[in-house]
Amino acid sequence: MSERRPAEKNLAVHPVRLVLDLDAGIDDALALAYALGSSEVELVAVVASYGNVTQERAARNACALLDLLGRPDVPVYAGADRPLGAAESFSPAAGVVRIHGESGLGASELPAPSRPTRADGVGWLAREGCAAPPAAPLTYVPTGPLTNLALALRARPELAERLPRITFMGGALGVPGNVTPCAEANVHNDPEAADEVLVSGLPTRMVGLDVTHQVVLTREETARWRALGTRAGRFFADMTDHYIAVYERNNPGMGGCALHDPLALAAALDPTLVGCLRTNLRVCREGAVRGRTVCDPRRLRDEAKDAEVALTVDAPRFLEEFCSRVRRALA
Ligand code: RIB
Ligand code: CA
Repeated sequence: MSERRPAEKNLAVHPVRLVLDLDAGIDDALALAYALGSSEVELVAVVASYGNVTQERAARNACALLDLLGRPDVPVYAGADRPLGAAESFSPAAGVVRIHGESGLGASELPAPSRPTRADGVGWLAREGCAAPPAAPLTYVPTGPLTNLALALRARPELAERLPRITFMGGALGVPGNVTPCAEANVHNDPEAADEVLVSGLPTRMVGLDVTHQVVLTREETARWRALGTRAGRFFADMTDHYIAVYERNNPGMGGCALHDPLALAAALDPTLVGCLRTNLRVCREGAVRGRTVCDPRRLRDEAKDAEVALTVDAPRFLEEFCSRVRRALA
């Protein structure tokens, strides 16, 4: 390992200089609130990607959510608008629109944002990720497709040595996918990008469906947000109740909604929340298994392991952190 790579123990140094890469649907919004309710976090920027919504809509949502949560000072950069190699910009499938709503934030809509999106999130990420001093690295947490990171690594391959381990929401190792029987949505949206990242040498921590389906939010908590009496509390309660209703239809018996993106952020800030398998990962790119994350058969015996795959989670401790941090952001 290069001496230049910032050690992950730097994550314990306050503040954590966080960059969120969001496809700005409902659970991405919950991750944003978690970040803003975390006293150890300095939110440096948001990069807005296609995925749950179009790229343009993701940027609008990120700006409007930051306005709602009282942080219009946080810059929002435009990320990729399509998967690697795609000819056209990406629009979500009808099934995704049913899950996250037309706006991406449930049935409600926020007022137009107070400022424009900044251009070239990929260039910004590559530049700032490389320029950050080892003592204050960027903690980059993608909760959408990995397209922006793959493009940034193409532009500046040394980025793989300059970022500390990145924690991403995506993939499924031991459980079925949520788009196909094999593939999870974020990896499914751009399997090539995810594969490029996973073989780039950049250390990763995968927070996928293996653990995110173990952390469930109920309407009891959203009722508390509504009772805060704030505009943000009401908006987040309505938005999340929409998401819970989708889970009640699609995953009856779960008792609430999965907290995919907030768990990835929480595990980036406090890796002791999850128990991980150390391995090397790849993404299947062909046929029915396209989008499946697997242990790389060619690197099984390598001593060096680039990836950590979260397979267990301290759900009660995470939920406690989630509720107190999000409430702080909404109050
Ligand atoms: O599979 C869950 C993931 O897909 C989450 O990040 C959700 O926001 C969607 O992007
Ligand atoms: Ca997401």
